Amino acid sequence: MGSGKRSLIFGIAGQDGSYLLEHLRSLGHEVFGVVRRNSVVENQQSRIDQISDMNNIYGDVTDLTSIIRAFENAKPDYVFNLAAQSHVRISFDVPNYTIETNGVGVLNILEVIKNYFPETKFYQASSSEMFGNSIDEDLAQRETTPMLPVSPYGCAKLYGYHITKTYRNSYNLFACNGILFNHESERRGSNFVTNKIAKNAVEIFLGRKKYLELGNLDAKRDWGHSKDYVRAMVKILNHNVADDFVISTGKTRSVRDFCKVAFSYLDLDYKDYVKVNPKFFRPQELHELRGDCTKAKTILGWTPKISFEEMVQEMVENWKNLLSK
Ligand code: GDD
Repeated sequence: MGSGKRSLIFGIAGQDGSYLLEHLRSLGHEVFGVVRRNSVVENQQSRIDQISDMNNIYGDVTDLTSIIRAFENAKPDYVFNLAAQSHVRISFDVPNYTIETNGVGVLNILEVIKNYFPETKFYQASSSEMFGNSIDEDLAQRETTPMLPVSPYGCAKLYGYHITKTYRNSYNLFACNGILFNHESERRGSNFVTNKIAKNAVEIFLGRKKYLELGNLDAKRDWGHSKDYVRAMVKILNHNVADDFVISTGKTRSVRDFCKVAFSYLDLDYKDYVKVNPKFFRPQELHELRGDCTKAKTILGWTPKISFEEMVQEMVENWKNLLSK
């Protein structure tokens, strides 16, 4: 049974976009998605091919007329902006592009909402990268923690976060930020550290590779599962007041810990295979993230369900299935 609700997702072809599409459909929404043109269409569409239909629109958050066309097509009740240049290290290589997409792109959508679709509810994918190395006394980050980003990616996301709040307060829009800590899954791109580790560990297990090169093994992240986090996005827009929420697990682990767990599922000791290559260091590193999501738990009734160990196992199993074919 349809709910009569219509949702538009910018960035539908990404990890979160594909899980959000499935979740919204399970809630009876009609879902529309904006995808960027890509020269290798199979790569671009691989996450949504199984679940997609004709509601996908070519567009880009940096292209205002394509945003207007997407809105006119979808006539959405809910809009989710998950479109981004999402890789932090690469943002140092393409800073202008990152700012244009992750920063100005948000403004473009907000302008369309303000001028033509003011009743639309808006979700902005904000990021824990905005905190940089700022940390509260209890070593956690929460909605009130000062934000001091340390990457072009973080700076661009901070602009997106503030412009969303500014439009909410200036024009009375229902515009919200989810401040999401790292979240992974088998659909994660394999140049992010978690799926890079999972993929390479399986390649080593299958005898196709001898070792894995990584950057900083001591960086700590609060890793949750994308499937859990897309549920939070919908809860944020279903709340009766437009607000901003940290979404996290509250637990922190190092890149080294991730290696240990992933390799152990294959009965391997990561120490025998992992090498550090400075090529993967960043000009400035965010050392430690641990999110306090008490606000989301209390106000939205959201809690993460999938454990770290289950998630790592899912990622390793997925590569085992793919690579042993
Ligand atoms: N990508 C990558 N590759 N990271 C490495 C590597 C490597 O070979 N070796 C060590 N790392 C370390 C990075 O230095 C970083 O400290 C940590 O692993 C995690 O890196 P990523 O998986 O690339 O994620 P991220 O934390 O930089 O950014 C992700 O999380 C943000 C939320 O905090 C992305 O998903 C962002 O889009 C998201 O906003």
